[in-house]
Amino acid sequence: MLEIKKCNTDIEKEWAFVRDMPVDENGLTNSLHGISRQDFIEKALPDMLKHERGEDMPDWMVPETFLYLWEDNTIVGQFRIRHYLNDALRAGAGHIGYFIAKESRGRGYGTEGLRQTLPIARGIIPEDEIYLRVNKDNPASLKVMQNNGGRIVGEDDGHYFVRIPK
Ligand SMILES: CC(C)(COP(=O)(O)OP(=O)(O)OC[C@H]1O[C@@H](n2cnc3c(N)ncnc32)[C@H](O)[C@@H]1OP(=O)(O)O)[C@@H](O)C(=O)NCCC(=O)NCCS
Repeated sequence: MLEIKKCNTDIEKEWAFVRDMPVDENGLTNSLHGISRQDFIEKALPDMLKHERGEDMPDWMVPETFLYLWEDNTIVGQFRIRHYLNDALRAGAGHIGYFIAKESRGRGYGTEGLRQTLPIARGIIPEDEIYLRVNKDNPASLKVMQNNGGRIVGEDDGHYFVRIPK
């Protein structure tokens, strides 16, 4: 069974997952790549939980919720909801980012993870639409968005800008 769950459900598995996620794949960045267990437990996870509540954030950041997609007892993906748009997010990455582990791709998990993330996002986000952005050379991610009602509303040299209705 595939189920999206908030972070801080299983610290050991969440640590191993973010440690192994690449630093950047298609613009989905991960500042925790290679992190030690101790640093994750003592600093990174508490920071994630504080930032979700809007506490102790740098100026450029908006509150963010981290979710993991579980297939039974295994984490197969990470989904992030940025709670509202600032100027950089409005013109850039938008509200939601996601990552599916390499070995779990091509089985519909990205589509299902976003499907389960959207109701949570709809309960948080104040804007009238959910903003997403995807690299033009990432057709799988564009398909994940379109499978969830996303429509392309604009583009620049390297990206499509996509909106999902609230
Ligand atoms: C993008 C990503 C989340 C897709 O995850 P996934 O679990 O493989 O997605 P799905 O299995 O739901 O596949 C979605 C669709 O893309 C299609 N697809 C996959 N690879 C494709 C490709 N190279 N070209 C065209 N379509 C492709 C699939 O056939 C599927 O289409 P369908 O729904 O019509 O069957 C995953 O590749 C990933 O994490 N990439 C790295 C991080 C990233 O790019 N994040 C998104 C940033 S915007």
